[in-house]
Amino acid sequence: MEKRLQKLISESGYTSRRKAEELILRGKVKVNGKVITELGAKFDEKVKIEIDGEILEKCEKEYYVINKPRGVVTTTKDDKNRKTIMDFFDSDKRLYPIGRLDYDTTGVLLVTNDGDFAQMLMHPKNNIDKVYIAKLEGIIDAYSIKQLKDGIMLDERKTSKARVKLKKVDKKSNTCIVQITIHEGMYHQVKRMFESVGYNVLKLKREFYAFIGVDDLKPGEYRKLTPKEVHQLYALSNEK
Ligand code: URA
Repeated sequence: MEKRLQKLISESGYTSRRKAEELILRGKVKVNGKVITELGAKFDEKVKIEIDGEILEKCEKEYYVINKPRGVVTTTKDDKNRKTIMDFFDSDKRLYPIGRLDYDTTGVLLVTNDGDFAQMLMHPKNNIDKVYIAKLEGIIDAYSIKQLKDGIMLDERKTSKARVKLKKVDKKSNTCIVQITIHEGMYHQVKRMFESVGYNVLKLKREFYAFIGVDDLKPGEYRKLTPKEVHQLYALSNEK
């Protein structure tokens, strides 16, 4: 069956369809040895596709959730030679995390080789819930909670409306636990949101990415998402 070149590339797990289109337009993609720069071109699945000299293999899609431990980076490589989230996986596929968590943040991280799935989940228009539990230095007041709910100016943009719940107050240690649900994935977003209303985050865990949690996994453990979960996650983009 013939398919558009960008679809064949994204199905190989090399990158998303949108990034594949950029590569095609930039003349980086060869099909059976010939550079193709048209986005409409269709080919049989058996053709040889080469990107920057690398031949793509057809590959099966893989989808995982890992409970990210503290002290691990979520990039696929680290220039300081720190442990990366990929060190936990035993797969011959070109896996990568969907979005980022900080070195010291724990909890839900989705990992895949399906570029379209990753793009869909990360696209702000799809409004995917990301639920975090933060331990704060100090006891947050009602006005700060309202500010967080309404949105905070970060990088000259207002964050979208958040759900914020004060879960626990510990007067003795002068700390509190707050659950916050956001929809974007800006750099250090949760920490910066709390900092901008005057609270330092001592600990941060992502409890849920959409409806996927990690209560069944110890830090560093992962499992495959079930086909039903993958289907339900994909369906989140069609509902909106
Ligand atoms: N927000 C942060 O500040 N850090 C994370 O790791 C995730 C969201």
